[in-house]
Amino acid sequence: MRVIGIVSDYRKARGGFRRNDLGMAIEGAQSPAADDAVGRVARYFNSLDAAAYADHYAHEALDTSPSAYFFQRRQAIVMGVLQSSKGGRILDVGCGPGIFAGPCLERGFRYHGIDLASRMIDEGHRRFGNLEGIEFTVGDARQLPIPSDSIDALLCLGMLEYVSQEQEALYLKEMARVVKPGGIAVFSFLNARSPHWLVNDYAFPIVRSCLWHIKEALNKSKLVAVRDFSAKGFSTRKFRPNERMALLRATGLSLVGMTYFSANVLPPHIDSLMPRQSVWAAAKLEPLLAKPSLSWLGQGFIVAVRK
Ligand SMILES: C[S@@+](CC[C@H](N)C(=O)[O-])C[C@H]1O[C@@H](n2cnc3c(N)ncnc32)[C@H](O)[C@@H]1O
Repeated sequence: MRVIGIVSDYRKARGGFRRNDLGMAIEGAQSPAADDAVGRVARYFNSLDAAAYADHYAHEALDTSPSAYFFQRRQAIVMGVLQSSKGGRILDVGCGPGIFAGPCLERGFRYHGIDLASRMIDEGHRRFGNLEGIEFTVGDARQLPIPSDSIDALLCLGMLEYVSQEQEALYLKEMARVVKPGGIAVFSFLNARSPHWLVNDYAFPIVRSCLWHIKEALNKSKLVAVRDFSAKGFSTRKFRPNERMALLRATGLSLVGMTYFSANVLPPHIDSLMPRQSVWAAAKLEPLLAKPSLSWLGQGFIVAVRK
């Protein structure tokens, strides 16, 4: 049976959640509401089948899934940024099942993954726990169990979209605290101007609920299994590069470089229904993302900064 990974927010449409609901629910950085929002994220990631989630990231064939294309492009850019680093200690904040552990080890780093969701950390242990130089800890990025100025390189990939706007500065400050002066930090963001996300966030809520029924019907048919890794109950944030860079600078970090990636111009679900074509188009368009006038086509962007 063919398995399609599908990322949707159909319950948001069905349950009446609004865009940026997670952010709006938060009054202040340390408020009970903030803790509740973080708790919701932890519950969501603990509810996932972490092994399947990791497979979804790591093992899908490049040309058969647009999300695999997204993750593999992202990984290539991140590892390219780290190429000039001399190894040492790397901290992966919001590491999920730790798909960066292997590549970081190969690049000569000692890897430490931290994540809120114990289920993700268990999966990291299961996959890589017996390897020397790899460590996983359950922890909150707002209070890292790490001494100040002790980390040579920090990764924060695919995590800040789960953090409210009000709390973002707090997270960045805490991450900057643990990086050594002169150390590097790499962040990935979802691009607010990407047509893929614009359709997803503004035009799709109604269509999405119809697709949910199609997904259910497909699953019932047993011809195709559609797996849903959606952020149920809340929306993921999308970002504008200039604002992010201003915030990173305000945290005392200086810009090393920024790269857009994954020119997936098809909306979510449609791209999964025609994966080969969407990956083909994304790969063809990828070189155009380097042009400032076309960078908005990228689904995501990566920012590297130095402390
Ligand atoms: C989409 S996954 C990204 C996983 C991994 N970084 C990657 O990109 O392959 C987001 C992860 O961030 C974690 N996360 C969210 N908020 C967090 C927090 N406050 N502290 C630590 N981890 C957090 C979630 O539990 C989840 O595993």
